[in-house]
Amino acid sequence: MPVSPGSRPDPHSVTAVAVREMTIDDVAPVYHLGELVFTSDLYPTLYRTWDEWEVIGHYNTDPEYCLVAEAEAGAIAGFVLGTVISKATWVYGYIIWLAVSPQFQRRGIADKLVDKIVERMIEEGVRFMLVDTDPANTPAIKFFQRKGFGSPRRHVYLSMNLSKHEIYGRLISYERDKAERVKQRRPKRP
Ligand SMILES: CC(C)(COP(=O)(O)OP(=O)(O)OC[C@H]1O[C@@H](n2cnc3c(N)ncnc32)[C@H](O)[C@@H]1OP(=O)(O)O)[C@@H](O)C(=O)NCCC(=O)NCCS
Repeated sequence: MPVSPGSRPDPHSVTAVAVREMTIDDVAPVYHLGELVFTSDLYPTLYRTWDEWEVIGHYNTDPEYCLVAEAEAGAIAGFVLGTVISKATWVYGYIIWLAVSPQFQRRGIADKLVDKIVERMIEEGVRFMLVDTDPANTPAIKFFQRKGFGSPRRHVYLSMNLSKHEIYGRLISYERDKAERVKQRRPKRP
């Protein structure tokens, strides 16, 4: 059933989507969907890192773990980006980014994306899955718990604005002045 932008989803209704590997044409829509849902005002630390290089980088290094859910008319309803980490004792599957467009949420799309990526990871020897999100991201935490993820551990993120730091701030001013001096020394073109 097509969903018009802004309409409220009917919870639990099933939307026909095809989960497939991401292609080069999906890079921009995936990036923009991420921009829409990974909002730094909601989850500042975690989502500050979302940019086009996240999509391009994962597509470049782990294309088999970059999946999209395509709805009717070719719209990208959601995506998952993951990777596999091989250690001596375990092979870990890590879900790095997962997003479903607001108009398609609560229709089982993330469920399908996660099932598909886990299936692929199992084929590659993964026996342990990892995922993380902001502690305030209740929808995602509920979603992952429902999927079987457990043993949550709180992770503390600390941050620092270097410009406001007493010493590093001076270093930044020094570098800025240096760049300014170099610019002024450059001979002007006639
Ligand atoms: C988390 C997210 C991917 C879930 O996608 P989805 O397609 O709506 O999830 P599904 O329909 O497959 O699963 C729905 C289940 O997830 C949980 N859930 C999803 N949204 C929820 C919400 N707003 N409140 C509470 N539980 C929620 C519930 O357990 C729900 O089951 P229910 O509908 O029977 O109650 C989606 O909300 C999203 O894109 N969020 C923003 C990005 C994000 O936080 N990504 C995860 C970290 S990278």
